[in-house]
Amino acid sequence: MKLPQSVQLPQSLKLPRSPLSGRALTAGAVAVATLMAGGSAAGAASAAERPAAVADAPDIPVANVKAHLTQLQSIATANGGNRAHGRPGYQASLDYVRAELDAAGFTTSLQEFTASGSTGYNLIADWPGGDADQVVMSGAHLDSVTSGPGINDNGSGSSAVLETALAVARSGYQPTKHLRFAWWGAEELGLVGSSHYVDSLGSADREKISGYLNFDMIGSPNPGYFVYDDDPTIEKTFKDYFAGLGITTEIETEGDGRSDHAPFKNAGVPVGGLFSGADYRKTSAQAAEWGGTVGEPFDPCYHSSCDTTANVDDTALDRNSDAIAYAVWELSQ
Ligand code: TRP
Ligand code: CA
Ligand code: ZN
Repeated sequence: MKLPQSVQLPQSLKLPRSPLSGRALTAGAVAVATLMAGGSAAGAASAAERPAAVADAPDIPVANVKAHLTQLQSIATANGGNRAHGRPGYQASLDYVRAELDAAGFTTSLQEFTASGSTGYNLIADWPGGDADQVVMSGAHLDSVTSGPGINDNGSGSSAVLETALAVARSGYQPTKHLRFAWWGAEELGLVGSSHYVDSLGSADREKISGYLNFDMIGSPNPGYFVYDDDPTIEKTFKDYFAGLGITTEIETEGDGRSDHAPFKNAGVPVGGLFSGADYRKTSAQAAEWGGTVGEPFDPCYHSSCDTTANVDDTALDRNSDAIAYAVWELSQ
C-alpha cells in the first residue's frame, strides 16, 4: 500500500520503517499507520485534531532535471545557439517552463521589463495555499549569454528549480508558508529582471518574503560545493543537507553579489543559495575534498559555446537539486 506522498521520506533518513511498505516513517506517518493497523478510534486524535505532519522533502530525480536541460539545449540549437534576452531562444525557454508549471497546477504570470531596447520577461509561479504573509521564494535566471546555449549557466538552476516546483505539485505538498518560484530574465545584462521584480514590490510585499533562494550554475563540470553565507538560517539549512551526505562545503566567494539574490539582499530580504563554480580554478585542497581537476576552472565553458548538455556534472546537479528541495521543504513549515 502507498502512503500519501506528503509523508514519504527519502531512504536516507534514519527513521523506523513502515511495516506496510518498508518506507521510513515520519511521526505523522507512524500515527497514520497505527490508525490503519486498527488503533482504537477513541484513543486516536482525528486527522483534524492531530498536528500537521512534518513533511520531508522528496528526492529530486536527476533524470527529470536532465530532461529539462535537454529541452533547453534543443531550444538553443533551434534558435541560433543561445537563449539570450530579446532572442527567440529566450521566448521558447519561457514558454517551455511556463507550460510545465501550468500543467502542474501553478498560477503563473509574466512580468515585463525593458533591457537594452528589447522587452524582457520574468516568469513567476505561485503554488496555491500557505500563509501569504510568509513567502518562501526560489529562483534562477533563465537567460543565457548570446555566445552559447547556457546549459550550466543557467539551465542548471532553472531546471532544478522547475523540477522542485513540479515535485511540490506531485507530492501535493501544502506547507504552512506560501511557495513562489521565479525564472529571471536578463540576468546576464546586469541582474535586470530580478532588480525589476524587487523594485516593483512595495515595501509591504518585500517584507512578506521570508527568504529568497538563488540557484545560478549548480552543475559545473569540475564542481565545487559552495553555499552563500548571507542569511545564517538559510546557510545552515544547506550546510546541514551536505553534511548529511558527508560533503564539505565552502562559502561562495566567487563574485559575491553577481547573481539575482543581490537585489533581494540589498532590499533587506534574507537570501541564500548554491553555486558549483564558474571561471575560478580548483585548488589542490578543493580537489582533495571534491575530486575533479586541480588548476582547471570549475566551468571551463563559462559563457562559451561549449556550455552544452555535455558541460554538466550529473552528481553535482543531483546533489544540488536534492538540496534545493530539502531547503524549500525545511524552510516552508
Ligand atoms: N551570475 C554569473 C553569471 O551568470 C555567474 C556567477 C559568477 C555566479 N560568480 C557567481 C553566480 C557567484 C552565483 C554566485 O554569469
Ligand atoms: Ca536526486
Ligand atoms: Zn552567466
